[in-house]
Amino acid sequence: MKIISVVGARPNFMKVAPLIRAINRHNENNIDKTEHLLVHTGQHYDDCLSKKIFDELEIPTADINLGVGSGTHAEQVGNSMIALEKVFEKEKPDWVVVYGDVNATMAASITAKKLLIKVCHVEAGLRSGDWTMPEEINRIVTDRLSDLLLTPDKISMKNLINEGISINSIKFVGNIMIDTLEFNRDKAKKLNIQNIISNSLIVNNPVNSLIEDNYAVMTLHRPSNVDNKHVLEDLVNLIINDLSKEIPIIWAIHPRTQKQLQLFNLWENIISTNSIFVVKPLGYLEMLRLNMSAKIMLTDSGGLQEECSFFNKKCLVCRKVTERPEALGQSTFMVESPEKLNEIFIRHIDDYEINYECPFGDGHSAEKITKILKKIM
Ligand code: UD1
Repeated sequence: MKIISVVGARPNFMKVAPLIRAINRHNENNIDKTEHLLVHTGQHYDDCLSKKIFDELEIPTADINLGVGSGTHAEQVGNSMIALEKVFEKEKPDWVVVYGDVNATMAASITAKKLLIKVCHVEAGLRSGDWTMPEEINRIVTDRLSDLLLTPDKISMKNLINEGISINSIKFVGNIMIDTLEFNRDKAKKLNIQNIISNSLIVNNPVNSLIEDNYAVMTLHRPSNVDNKHVLEDLVNLIINDLSKEIPIIWAIHPRTQKQLQLFNLWENIISTNSIFVVKPLGYLEMLRLNMSAKIMLTDSGGLQEECSFFNKKCLVCRKVTERPEALGQSTFMVESPEKLNEIFIRHIDDYEINYECPFGDGHSAEKITKILKKIM
């Protein structure tokens, strides 16, 4: 059997790593080998968003890198499709496996399907119901085209069944992110928090003022939060004038967000605020380490919601809706508008402890996926 995995952006890398390990294990123990090729579209190309994460997660260098880089959505998807078509025609895989909801996911599923190659979607069935999110479009198109839909949870299964997808092509495998978390948590635990910050600090802030478990971690990159000047300005003002007065904030800044802050002349205000530690995008292990000891997370990311749930941390999500509703009210709390942010932030910092069972899987998803792909060949 020949499989091509297609990845493009940071959140894909954590999902492909355990599957590569599971395939290698399978090959060691069976004469019937599976050939696996890794294709990186190159959507994320900065070292901190790509190479660093590959190295940490011990993902082998991609067999093929398409180097599509940045651009509009149509450019990213279109250029990926043109390049992927050549790869699929040459390699003739039995399966193309795609992950999550980034532009590479949709580009690969359309291209493979048109070449009559079977598509397997890892993390199928997530729905936010928000059609203004590019990721929602990517998910829905990918799920509609996939031959095998592997869901991380029961709600996602229901979503697919409600959309009329045949139950025979849906399999519940649990969340593959948990495989990666389980595999890496001990390595992450050994990292020193102050070293993480000083190594990635963009502005020279005295890191020794940071107390081990008294900080908040923050990430923001969604177009809905960072592309509109007024929305971003309101958020930044709140963060500087209110939130950072409550607790020091470590802000791991996405390149997209940094560009927007500079464009809107908001950057200087942030980097001159003493209690905000602005750091480059962190590695996977570094982010896990900070998450483990943080009091609270403020983010618009999808994956961080799952990681917070795993570590029993509260995650305030700067979005109107989430496609990961399982942990809502337990570890996930929505901040539907900037006006409510301050009040919600203070309430949860004062009451930050939680203790409940993470609903996102048992850490053995990759093993299940390998078996399913083998069985239905
Ligand atoms: C993408 C995913 C999103 C995921 C996020 C994680 C889509 C539609 N979105 O969003 O689901 O949560 O990755 O990071 O696929 N840039 C760089 N260096 C890079 C990559 C990007 O500077 O290595 C800048 C470019 O200016 C680019 C912008 O960031 O235009 C946005 O990057 P893009 O790949 O379009 O989407 P993300 O916002 O990263």
